[in-house]
Amino acid sequence: MSTVRPVTPVTPVRRQQPAGHGPAGVAVIGCGNISRQYLANLTRFPDVAVVICADVDPGRAKAQAAAYGVPEWGSAGDALAHPGVQLIVNLTVPAAHAEVTGAAIAAGKHVWSEKPLTLDVGAGRALLRQAEAAGVRVGCAPDTVLGAGLQTARRLIDSGAIGTPLTALSLLQGPGPQSWHPDPEFLFAPGAGPLFDLGPYYLSVLATLFGPARRVAAVGRRPDESRVIGSGPRAGTAFGVAVSTYVAALAEYDAGQAASLLFSWDSPLTRAGFVEITGTEATLAVPDPNRFDGDVRVRRAGDDDWTVLPAEGAAAGRGTGVVDMVRAIRAGTRHRATGEMALHVLEMMTAIERSAASAAFEPVATRFEAPAPLGPQWDPYVAAD
Ligand SMILES: NC(=O)c1ccc[n+]([C@@H]2O[C@H](COP(=O)([O-])OP(=O)(O)OC[C@H]3O[C@@H](n4cnc5c(N)ncnc54)[C@H](O)[C@@H]3O)[C@@H](O)[C@H]2O)c1
Repeated sequence: MSTVRPVTPVTPVRRQQPAGHGPAGVAVIGCGNISRQYLANLTRFPDVAVVICADVDPGRAKAQAAAYGVPEWGSAGDALAHPGVQLIVNLTVPAAHAEVTGAAIAAGKHVWSEKPLTLDVGAGRALLRQAEAAGVRVGCAPDTVLGAGLQTARRLIDSGAIGTPLTALSLLQGPGPQSWHPDPEFLFAPGAGPLFDLGPYYLSVLATLFGPARRVAAVGRRPDESRVIGSGPRAGTAFGVAVSTYVAALAEYDAGQAASLLFSWDSPLTRAGFVEITGTEATLAVPDPNRFDGDVRVRRAGDDDWTVLPAEGAAAGRGTGVVDMVRAIRAGTRHRATGEMALHVLEMMTAIERSAASAAFEPVATRFEAPAPLGPQWDPYVAAD
């Protein structure tokens, strides 16, 4: 087990601001599935301009550039060498995240990465140190935490709507993605499973609301040695299961809160998107952490039913975190979905996995500064001053 040490937060450095007053030049590296959502949004946000699409598969880069009106396409090297690019959006597969982000930092670019930051904590910590030394920023998905739903919940909790927040309860359960995904093997391989595939959404919500965790404990189960693909051309094919498909975890936070978390692909009954925060005065139900929108519900002691509070703010989708990052770089302020928070979430997941094996509480050592909430008027579709 590697020694985990606190990471020094990246200090905003003005000399690395995106140049000029126009939109910041962005390169998208990795033109696969999720790039469609990013490109559809980033090409409509006025504070950024996508200048090049890149991929190891040139056909994909070319096709996405054509589909979204991006002027250039090429290799990752072309994107990194592009003088008009200030920020790289790394949408490659998780196994390539560390390499692509590291190369981007070495080229003097800021980086937004899809989750997870890296596959292991040591590689993530090394990237953040490299970025700090280079004076560039690292941001990381999920940026669903910047959506109207969670931000409304955050502002309500900050305003005292539930009293002092004490505990959280989160629930994700279902039969697992083998039923609908045509190539589900990677989702049952190390680095995936319900914990690593969907945990970032739930754990990032709690990180945003509670701040850093200090220790975790967990029980894991893997009832099936193999599963069978349920759809697509390979339906009926069996494949091996290498990870826990049921993970029940406890987390204790620095600020005193405790959380009970369930991540299961061993349930015929599907229940997802359930996160409740209980305080001294009321319980607040957070919208689905995998979405940018959704109502917030509050139930005070003695209430017969929930009070529904519509979400206020932008629910613009993936790429929201990139806009927040570009604006923060310009303003010399801290961006919200930081690499430090993503590293902490990654460490929580690896500690949960270790605890399931060791049957002991595992410490979580990395720290991050909890992000400031977004105001309800914050809008990525309107250019910042
Ligand atoms: N697909 C989704 O619904 C979804 C949702 C949320 C997050 N994500 C995250 O987004 C990331 C990408 O997922 P995806 O579903 O788009 O995967 P994908 O396999 O569809 O696309 C990844 C692309 O990256 C390219 N690539 C791989 N290594 C590269 C390298 N070294 N240099 C340049 N290009 C490289 C591949 O050729 C491919 O086009 C993952 O981190 C995933 O966790 C995906």
